[in-house]
Amino acid sequence: MRDWATRHLPPSPTPLRLLECGCGNGTLLLSFLTSPSSSRPQPFHLTGIDYSPGAIFLAKGVETAHRSAPLEDEAVRNEVDVDWRVGDILRDKFTEEWDLVLDKGTFDALALSSEPIDGEGEGRLPSRVYPEKVATLVREGGFFLITSCNFTEEEIRRRFTRPELGESDTVVALVPRLYPIQDLYISESFGRDLR
Ligand SMILES: C[S@@+](CC[C@H](N)C(=O)[O-])C[C@H]1O[C@@H](n2cnc3c(N)ncnc32)[C@H](O)[C@@H]1O
Repeated sequence: MRDWATRHLPPSPTPLRLLECGCGNGTLLLSFLTSPSSSRPQPFHLTGIDYSPGAIFLAKGVETAHRSAPLEDEAVRNEVDVDWRVGDILRDKFTEEWDLVLDKGTFDALALSSEPIDGEGEGRLPSRVYPEKVATLVREGGFFLITSCNFTEEEIRRRFTRPELGESDTVVALVPRLYPIQDLYISESFGRDLR
């Protein structure tokens, strides 16, 4: 997923804003501490949100370890600051937007729940509310990048590109093959190294 982002996010002198929904131990986000040596260093502002306080605690520890680890061969170090938050993507209100929103296994996990969401998405299932929530988190022209083990390409496309989610330039990507379908990019590879 980092490689996809490296290839598709336009370089920016100001920090690119990345959000991972359901960041777990933060390993994916922390892969942005470095970029391939073939690219220029890119500053990032990373936000990791998970409703598990244990996961966020762990992510902070993993961050400390990654920052003090020696630089891998063929990597450049990026200037990165990270905002770890305990929060519920489905139920919390957000006023911010991100250049890239990442999902690695979170939609798969919350789609297993049959407990309806109260409040904003009253009585509706998490799998229904989540795509609408994500659409509000991606800035106009930004990206939503998702990898799934449980859903087919067609299912992801149907759930994340409904007309009511808006007609912005936002694109949805499923790592790593890309082809434009309206505002959707999608990929072929399940089961590769998606770090
Ligand atoms: C399958 S794990 C993936 C973790 C991480 N993305 C990774 O690749 O290692 C799904 C994560 O989503 C989190 N999660 C599930 N529903 C959530 C919600 N509504 N809000 C925030 N986090 C959620 C879980 O706590 C868990 O850490």
